[in-house]
Amino acid sequence: MCGIIGYIGAGEALPFLLKGLEKMEYRGYDSSGVAVVSENKIKVYKKCGRLKELENALKNEELLECSAGIGHTRWATHGKPSDINSHPHTSKSGKISVVHNGIIENYISLKNFLTQEGYKFISDTDTEVIAQLIDFYYNGDLLDSVQKAVSRLEGSYALGILCSDEPDKIIAVKKDSPLIIGTGENENYIASDVMALLLRTRKIYRLQENNIAVIKKDSITVYNPAKKVLNSENDFEFVNWDIESTNKGNYEHFMMKEIMEQPTVISKTVSSRIKNGEIYFDDFDIADEYLKNLSKIYIVACGSAANAGVVGKYIMEKLIKIPVEVELASEFRYKTPLIDESTLLIVISQSGETADSLAALREAKRLGAKVLSIVNVKGSSIANESDYVIYTSAGPEIAVATTKAYSCQLCILYLLSLFIANKLNRISSDKLYECINKISSISDKIEEVLSKKDEIMEIAKKYKDTEYAFFIGRNLDYAVCMEGSLKLKEVSYIHSEAYAAGELKHGPISLIENGTLVLALLTQDKLFDKMISNLREVKARGAKIFAITTDIHKDKISQIAESVFYIPDFSNEFSPSLSVIPFQIFSYYSALLRNCDIDKPRNLAKSVTVE
Ligand code: F6R
Repeated sequence: MCGIIGYIGAGEALPFLLKGLEKMEYRGYDSSGVAVVSENKIKVYKKCGRLKELENALKNEELLECSAGIGHTRWATHGKPSDINSHPHTSKSGKISVVHNGIIENYISLKNFLTQEGYKFISDTDTEVIAQLIDFYYNGDLLDSVQKAVSRLEGSYALGILCSDEPDKIIAVKKDSPLIIGTGENENYIASDVMALLLRTRKIYRLQENNIAVIKKDSITVYNPAKKVLNSENDFEFVNWDIESTNKGNYEHFMMKEIMEQPTVISKTVSSRIKNGEIYFDDFDIADEYLKNLSKIYIVACGSAANAGVVGKYIMEKLIKIPVEVELASEFRYKTPLIDESTLLIVISQSGETADSLAALREAKRLGAKVLSIVNVKGSSIANESDYVIYTSAGPEIAVATTKAYSCQLCILYLLSLFIANKLNRISSDKLYECINKISSISDKIEEVLSKKDEIMEIAKKYKDTEYAFFIGRNLDYAVCMEGSLKLKEVSYIHSEAYAAGELKHGPISLIENGTLVLALLTQDKLFDKMISNLREVKARGAKIFAITTDIHKDKISQIAESVFYIPDFSNEFSPSLSVIPFQIFSYYSALLRNCDIDKPRNLAKSVTVE
């Protein structure tokens, strides 16, 4: 949510900033801007709309020689998207310019204070307050004024700060929003995401909570909140990500590229954890004694990650036989969770930076629970603050709508359930062996589904003008319907809701009328006939049914559904890994046929670092 970038070096700040913003546009895309220092003056360029608007505006500017600059791509929180509300924000004196990712919760009282001091504000943003506050304290020492200003800020902030009187440095600050420093040949950088730095460097440093860094072209000095200099040299790490994975390759959209990558990334996620028919978590060294005393598991996450958690709940309760509650992180953090030392909290997050999930994690730790996170981004805040981390190997996920990260999360949840069930002797060795074999073959089975993606495109063509849809299923199918429905609405803007099929007649069925689209998932053999009854009920009221099931049910389903997509007959427990794929593909093609901006759906951003 919002991407910030900064450069200090021998020259060419602007091309670097624009390239970096392009890589981070997925974080927010309603406006963008840059500020550069040239001859002790800050020049700011900002534009409402996509990054290309800014690039066009800069075409005729001769700024290539600028040696310091900051940039921003915005997801609006305070104030609508507009040129004025875009970042960077500059103080009234023109001396201080700031880019910000996060939210300043006490900005109104700070604004009142600064107004009384004679400051005038031109934007509706909370960020402008930061620039003015630093300006207020500025007396020739940027670091000192930033330290003073930051001590008065409440909320979350990753900041990049530029000062016209001190053009030899940029200052970076981090609290509850990601910020990475990169180091290169006679130049250094900051960014919200490693991906923005990969074209220039792989040597990075993750700024820790509440620390401030003074970044010059040939030095990086990090200060803790007590203003003590930290020796950061040992904390640099090398990133070995493949730059190609941040490009679209031959695909028109990242979403389809990432859907098609699923067999590979699942195989990576799974294979390293299965050795000689046993499950190993090298990254998860939890004491057997602790597991034996486990009385409850909470799974906490947001959006699709929470939907993965619902699949996890069904499987864990079945295999481990321990109560599992799935809570949306935004709710969990403000209720009274019943937690003690015998509770394990599992946080699931692709980005590892989601503000609500991070806050839930901190709350659970405060209450005494151990926290295990399932995270895709190495070194992210959630990973850093957890007691145990299991990484998914989805690689960089760039489309705003998650696909491959969700699928990897499912596989980790399966493996974890089996791992704990085995430790607690709740699963027979035959069943364990059978499950491990199934999980090892998920990638191949997904390949089979993907090879029929054109069939789903044809089905999507039939329903592209639908304005609303219902997803129904029972048990694990219901959990997958939740994800299918989220996918469809976020990328195609078709209003959709997921219901447990048995619940339909308790209210929602009143919305079914002639032509209503119902997407039904039927992979749970024991529940198949119940589902058929539910489908008859909606069909009797005029619904058009698109069913996803396995070949073995061909006879029954073809009598009732208008369209059917068959997935391989696989396993009742692990069917979500297969059944979610047609929903992802259907959502993609529905969005494509409706001319939606698939990789950057309206109003969304990839990494939600504000509450
Ligand atoms: C939906 C989607 C979001 C994320 C949610 C959590 O396609 O991607 O719902 O799942 O914002 O994000 P992470 O997993 O980064 O915590």
